[in-house]
Amino acid sequence: MAFDRGFLDELSARNDILDVVSRYVQLKKSGSNYFGLCPFHNEKSASFSVSPDKQIYHCFGCGAGGGVINFIMRAEGLEFPDAVRFLADQVGMQVPEDHADPRAARRRERLLALSRDAGRFFYDQLWAPEHRAEQEYFARRGLVRPVMNRFGLGYAPDSFSALLDAMTAKGYTKEELLDAGLVSKSEKGHIYDRFRNRVMFPIIDLRGQVIAFGGRVMDDSKPKYLNSPETTIFHKSRNLFALNLAKKTKADYFILAEGYMDVIALHQAGFDSAVASLGTSLTEEQARLIARYTKNIVISYDADGAGQAAAQRAIDILKRTDLSVKVLRIPGAKDPDEFIKEKGADAYRRLIEASENHIAYRLDAIAAKYDLDEDEARVAFLQDAARELARIDGAIEREVYIGRAANMARVSVDAVQVEVKRQLAIRLKKQKTAERREIRAPISAAQPRDRTLQYPDVRSARAEEGIIQLVFTDETLLDYLEGKLSPAEFTAPVLRKIYEYARTLHREGHLVTAAACEGYLEDNELSHLALLLGEPVTAMRREQALDDYINTIKTQRARSAAASDSTGEDPLEAFARRQREKKSYGGNRV
Ligand code: GTP
Ligand code: MN
Repeated sequence: MAFDRGFLDELSARNDILDVVSRYVQLKKSGSNYFGLCPFHNEKSASFSVSPDKQIYHCFGCGAGGGVINFIMRAEGLEFPDAVRFLADQVGMQVPEDHADPRAARRRERLLALSRDAGRFFYDQLWAPEHRAEQEYFARRGLVRPVMNRFGLGYAPDSFSALLDAMTAKGYTKEELLDAGLVSKSEKGHIYDRFRNRVMFPIIDLRGQVIAFGGRVMDDSKPKYLNSPETTIFHKSRNLFALNLAKKTKADYFILAEGYMDVIALHQAGFDSAVASLGTSLTEEQARLIARYTKNIVISYDADGAGQAAAQRAIDILKRTDLSVKVLRIPGAKDPDEFIKEKGADAYRRLIEASENHIAYRLDAIAAKYDLDEDEARVAFLQDAARELARIDGAIEREVYIGRAANMARVSVDAVQVEVKRQLAIRLKKQKTAERREIRAPISAAQPRDRTLQYPDVRSARAEEGIIQLVFTDETLLDYLEGKLSPAEFTAPVLRKIYEYARTLHREGHLVTAAACEGYLEDNELSHLALLLGEPVTAMRREQALDDYINTIKTQRARSAAASDSTGEDPLEAFARRQREKKSYGGNRV
C-alpha cells in the first residue's frame, strides 16, 4: 500500500500499541510484557501478549500477531488503508491521501462529491415551490429555516428516478450511486432511488463532508426512518450525528440524544453540543470520539422503557472512557424534542442542571422496581443496590451513595455498609481468581506452534531467524551484514522476505521495526515476525553471533547442494516429500 513510509512511521509512533490494545483488551503486566484474553479467538486463559518495547502483540493461542495497524485491522475488521485512517483519526493526524492508492483515493473523492451533490439536490427539492407540504412538515415540527439550513435538511421526491436522473446528468455512474448507497438494485437488476418521498437528514463527518443520509416518512408508514447502508465513506459505528457542529461548542458538556429530530431541536434551543448515535446503540468508538471533545456527557434519551434500557447500555460504554456521565430524566414527555416544544429551552436547561450522576440514576432505577413500603421489598432493594454500590471504585463516592441508598430504604447506613462490604468481598475474590488465572496462564498456554514445520531447512532457518531477531533489535547490524549475507541465501521464504524488506527500510532511512513491516507483509508473515520478536535476544557479542549464523547458513547450503547432487533430488521436492511423510503436519500452522 502506497502510504508514505515517513507518515506511517509517525502514525505508529503516535499510536502506542499498549494504549490502543488497552481499549479492547484488559491487560495485566507480567515481566516486561502485558497479558490478556485474546480478542481474536475464544479463550479462558490469557495467551495474548503485548510488548510495549517492541510495539508488537502476539497470541500464543491463535498465532495472530503484528503491530498496531495490524491489530486495528483485525479488531475493527478493516483493510490496511482504513486501519491507517482509523488510527490517524485517533491522534488527529491528516492522512496524505495523494500518497495512498491513487485510484482508491479518487473513488473516495467521487463518492464524497456525489454525496454532497445529492445533499444539494434534496435541499433544492425541499425548497422548490411545489413542495410546500414538505416545508410545512418541518414548520409543524417547529423548526426554523436557519437551523434547517445549518443541518442541510432536504426532501427526496416521490419518484423512483429523480435523484438517479439528476446525478447521472451530472456525470456520476450508476455504480457510483450504488456505492454511495443512494440507489438500490432490484432482483431484475433495475436501479432505483433508495430514498423516496422522505424528508432528508444528511449525516456529516468531522471534516464537514456529507457521507450518508437518514430519511423520514411524513406519515405513519414504515419504516419511519431509512438510513444509508454502510459504504466506503460511511461507517455508522464511527460517526455521530451533528458531531461536526457539537465539536465547536463552548459548553463544557455534550448531550447525547437518540434521534435526529431531538438533536436538531436541541441545537435550535441553544444546546449546540447535542449529538446522536446513528439509529443504533452507542458504540465504543463513538464513546471515544465524544471523549476527544469533552469531559462531561449528559445522556438524554427517550423517557420510555426502551430509551431507559438504551441509556443503561450507553452508561456502561461511556464509563470505559474518562467521561463523567450524567443522566437526564424527562418528566411527562416522550423525548427532548417534545419536551422543548412544550416547555421551552429554560425548562430543559433546568433538567440538565438536575440531571443525576449515573450512580444516583441507577439507584433510582433500582428503587423503581420495588415497593419500598414493604419490608421484604426493602431487603431485596438493598441487596440489589449493594451489588451496584460495590461496583463503585472510589471509596468516598461509594460512601456518598451508601448514604443515599440507606435513605431511600429508610434503614441505617451501617446496615447498607455491611451488605456492600459483603458484595465487595465477593467481587474482590472473583477478581483475584481471574487475575491468578490470567497471570499464570501465559506460561501454560505458551506452547508456541512448531513454526519450523514450514522451513525447508530447519537448521539454516534457525540461523536466519537469529539474524532477523538481531537486526530488528539493532538495525546498524545490517551494515555489518552488508556484503556478507544476501537475501538469496535465506532458505525460508518468509524470513527472506523479512530480511529483504528490513534492508530496504534501513537503506531508505526508516526504522526497522515490526510496525514498519505492516502493510508490506501478509498477515501470517507478520504474525510470524511478531512471534520471533517476542523471544529474548542475546545482548552480548552480537557481531560474533551474526558470524556464527552466517556460518551455519553457508554450511547448510553447501550440505544440501552436495546431498541433491548425490540423490539427484531437488531440495524443494525433497522437502515436500518429507512433509507428506510427516503425519502430524497440520498445514495451517504458523
Ligand atoms: P421523530 O421525532 O418521530 O421524527 O423521531 P425521533 O427522532 O423521536 O426518533 P425515535 O425516537 O423514534 O428513534 C430514534 C432514532 O432511531 C431515529 O432518529 C433514527 O435514527 C432511528 N430510527 C427510528 N426509527 C427507525 C426505523 O424505522 N429504522 C431505522 N433504521 N432507524 C430508526
Ligand atoms: Mn421524536
